[in-house]
Amino acid sequence: MKKRYLRDIEVTEIGMGCMAFSHGYGKIPDEDYSIEAIRNAYQHGCTFFDTAEVYSPNLSGIGHNECIVGKALEPFRKNTVIATKLFLNHVGLGRSVYDEVRRHLEESMKRLRTDKVDVYYLHRLGSVAVEKVAEAMGRLIDDGLIRGWGLSQVDTDVIERAQNVTPLAAIQNIYSMVERDAEKAVIPYCMEHHIGFVPFSPIASGLLSGKITPDTKFERNDDVRNWVPQLSRENIRGNQPIIDLLKEYAQLKNATPAQISLAWMLHKYPNVVPIPGSKNKERIIENLNASEVHLAQEEFQALESALNQCKVYGHRGFRGL
Ligand SMILES: NC(=O)c1ccc[n+]([C@@H]2O[C@H](COP(=O)([O-])OP(=O)(O)OC[C@H]3O[C@@H](n4cnc5c(N)ncnc54)[C@H](OP(=O)(O)O)[C@@H]3O)[C@@H](O)[C@H]2O)c1
Repeated sequence: MKKRYLRDIEVTEIGMGCMAFSHGYGKIPDEDYSIEAIRNAYQHGCTFFDTAEVYSPNLSGIGHNECIVGKALEPFRKNTVIATKLFLNHVGLGRSVYDEVRRHLEESMKRLRTDKVDVYYLHRLGSVAVEKVAEAMGRLIDDGLIRGWGLSQVDTDVIERAQNVTPLAAIQNIYSMVERDAEKAVIPYCMEHHIGFVPFSPIASGLLSGKITPDTKFERNDDVRNWVPQLSRENIRGNQPIIDLLKEYAQLKNATPAQISLAWMLHKYPNVVPIPGSKNKERIIENLNASEVHLAQEEFQALESALNQCKVYGHRGFRGL
């Protein structure tokens, strides 16, 4: 698979979002299945894997997902790039921000069975100043414990404040054909400053696969799709012209709608590295194979102008992690 860069960290142009093996999209598969799915992705050429300390069933624990990712990738660790994320809601009494971040990192490394994390993100900006976090991340890079660092779901003001302290490797924000705010300032800023942009929910939580209809029933337990506004019946109906457009291009390119939506963003920006998520072995490979779908410049332009004429109904909402 073709490679891209998150600053100086080489990754495959499509990564794998591992969250759904632990949280967010209903019943989780058993561990053996998840491990095999991750290893299949690796065997298929994917080397970039995304997780977070909070990805656990119902967000009720810590580390479920990191343990799976760590176990799955242990035999190939040196050929892989692992990104994980921490929450920093408070700094313990008598500890510095660096001590606190390092404590989270060491726990994550144990679960990931590694002595180094490649990309370490702050999952959400909380009460700790981003400059302090940037400083701590800079020290962890100097310590040799992380290769690069990132921020998630932030705007350019925060990115710049952080970047001025310790240059960022990646920004992970929501981005898809129906969630394009990042195009205005964040992606251009990242391009200019050699920061990788890693879209989360690039298939709009499944909407852009064309498999979701107004009658689709989501799972009852731990399924974010129940509250994603874009997936209300009315909004699914409203967004149908976008799905029809994807289906038209899918037919033209002998691909699937999900693949077209990924190929669109890969064509559009050289620093974008999407991390589609799936808990299904076949769909994981389908998404990675979007790397083989090439849009000619005229095809991209036509798709882009048709998309620009479609009204987007609803947002994904930001309660998801
Ligand atoms: N930084 C953050 O705050 C944040 C927030 C959310 C997610 N993330 C990261 O981003 C990754 C991806 O985001 P996401 O999982 O929310 O959204 P996504 O990749 O846009 O969509 C996932 C959903 O789409 C379905 N799907 C995926 N590929 C499909 C295909 N080819 N055909 C049909 N359905 C398909 C999946 O169902 P099946 O499982 O049934 O295939 C799942 O329900 C996560 O795994 C996580 O690592 C980060």
